[in-house]
Amino acid sequence: MLLFVNACLRDQSRTERLARMWLDRRAYEGGVVTLTLADSTVEPLDAAGKSSVELYSRGVGSGDFSHPLFDYAKQFAQADEVLIAAPIWNYSMPAKLHAYLELVCSQGVTFDVGDAGAYVSLVKTQRLTYVTTAGGLQMEPGDDHAFGYVRTLAQRFWHIPRVDLVAAWGLDAPGADVEGLLEDALG
Ligand SMILES: Cc1cc2nc3c(=O)[nH]c(=O)nc-3n(C[C@H](O)[C@H](O)[C@H](O)COP(=O)(O)O)c2cc1C
Repeated sequence: MLLFVNACLRDQSRTERLARMWLDRRAYEGGVVTLTLADSTVEPLDAAGKSSVELYSRGVGSGDFSHPLFDYAKQFAQADEVLIAAPIWNYSMPAKLHAYLELVCSQGVTFDVGDAGAYVSLVKTQRLTYVTTAGGLQMEPGDDHAFGYVRTLAQRFWHIPRVDLVAAWGLDAPGADVEGLLEDALG
């Protein structure tokens, strides 16, 4: 199963379009499951309520992951491949995607800590692709708080060997050939 995490929040999203173009080319045959974050129950971990850090810590501490808070992490752990689509927002990603990743990073579900303190992956996926578009020009590596952050999680927590970026830059420049830029991004 390929898990498509759609973190695009605008009608006519160019990032979603690029992700769907990528999916067409990928022609994945194992079935695609789409998680549309805009329609999801994802909320950031909070002091209280149904996404409280206390509930999260209780589950992680006891190993009882029956609370729905952990459903996103369980789904992620079972995916054979992951595609994430999100626009660049303020050199980073929409907060909704950050909140989702907070839930996915549940120790005991998607990763664990080994005896020597090293992270042990609990996910199946061997490939993660991050699709993004930006209004402005390509970011300097030190300014990238989107793909760089996801790549750190993918490599450090989940040991995913193949982590790719597919990005179209400069979409909001006057007179930009948006379709051409999206095509170019696919290589
Ligand atoms: C809240 C917000 C923040 C943005 N921040 C940036 C930014 O930091 N750098 C940039 O190049 N473009 C930025 N943009 C422009 C978007 O990245 C660009 O329009 C992108 O293609 C939008 O993707 P979408 O069509 O999938 O929504 C921002 C747009 C919004 C709405």
